[in-house]
Amino acid sequence: MSILVTGGAGYIGSVMVEMLRRKGERVVVLDNLSRGHRAAVDPGTPFYQGEVGDRELVARIAREHELESSIHFAAFAYVGESVTEPARYFENNLAQGVALLGALLKAGLRRVVFSSTCAVYGEPKIVPIPEEHPQWPTNPYGWSKLLLERLLESYDRAYGLKFVSLRYFNAAGATPEHGEHHEPETHLIPNVLAVALGRAPCVSVFGHDYPTPDGTAVRDYIHIVDLDAAHILALDYLRAGGASEFINLGNGKGYSVLEVVETARRVTGRRIETRMEPRRPGDPSHLVAKADKAKNLLGWQPAYPQLEAIIRTAWEWRQAHPEGYGAAAR
Ligand SMILES: NC(=O)c1ccc[n+]([C@@H]2O[C@H](COP(=O)([O-])OP(=O)(O)OC[C@H]3O[C@@H](n4cnc5c(N)ncnc54)[C@H](O)[C@@H]3O)[C@@H](O)[C@H]2O)c1
Repeated sequence: MSILVTGGAGYIGSVMVEMLRRKGERVVVLDNLSRGHRAAVDPGTPFYQGEVGDRELVARIAREHELESSIHFAAFAYVGESVTEPARYFENNLAQGVALLGALLKAGLRRVVFSSTCAVYGEPKIVPIPEEHPQWPTNPYGWSKLLLERLLESYDRAYGLKFVSLRYFNAAGATPEHGEHHEPETHLIPNVLAVALGRAPCVSVFGHDYPTPDGTAVRDYIHIVDLDAAHILALDYLRAGGASEFINLGNGKGYSVLEVVETARRVTGRRIETRMEPRRPGDPSHLVAKADKAKNLLGWQPAYPQLEAIIRTAWEWRQAHPEGYGAAAR
């Protein structure tokens, strides 16, 4: 029996496939390559290029591969784009997510690990943010994820679909094989490393008047291997009969934008110029996870909790792959 990894050609999904295969699991990838890279998926892994909302295709994959569970990563994930083009987010993330879950249920599948986000909380009222924090997203991206969380709860109650919704903070870092290559790139660490590599003149720092020690926004960074390891634990937890859960994934420690830049200067030994810009709408000052639940419930233990190690792995991948997966790799 196989695990369906949607969005397996993307940043987090490609590392998931690498780790599941190393563990000896059977994996099938479904990705439309709108934002991912064919070269990020090993040619030996069954790969279907298509939409997660294509019910017939999902039914065919379920028949051909006897699916036992799904890890659902496929989504658009740019906060700013979701504000200017909300229809794309509700159609791609929500409507297609509803179709996918319907097709999986119809095929008899009852186990899902879902990629959620700290954006489901909105402006934090308590930091570190616990899972029971009120949820009122500040952008359509966060709403598209929160609405799928509510759907999963209803499907559990009505149809017995068991799920773990993992609310990621900021994923970063790389394995030697797989790293971060988004176009355009909106994440801080790859943009800082692009400057270190001489691909960009400076990195923009959005907001320097936040109520934080150095005035720049504070975020909780989690290594991609630690993040994906939590998915394997969540899957095993569901296989053992665990109840549906919502779980934060972060390290519980915040770093400001300027601390990230300073750490990257140390790791790379390169000059990294910054340019101060106004705050971006909807960017909270502090996003730091209360991260105990993943440890207590899943037995999760991060291997790379230090920012320096996270940046070092990203830098090693970026130096070995200066073009990322390459323009021709799609
Ligand atoms: N990167 C982060 O820091 C972060 C933080 C919180 C949550 N997340 C969530 O994690 C997931 C993966 O994020 P990522 O950074 O790897 O993004 P990514 O863009 O690198 O990967 C997403 C993949 O999904 C595919 N895809 C998108 N819509 C699809 C559709 N309708 N049908 C089939 N394939 C589709 C894309 O082609 C891409 O390969 C997303 O759901 C995102 O919302 C990411």
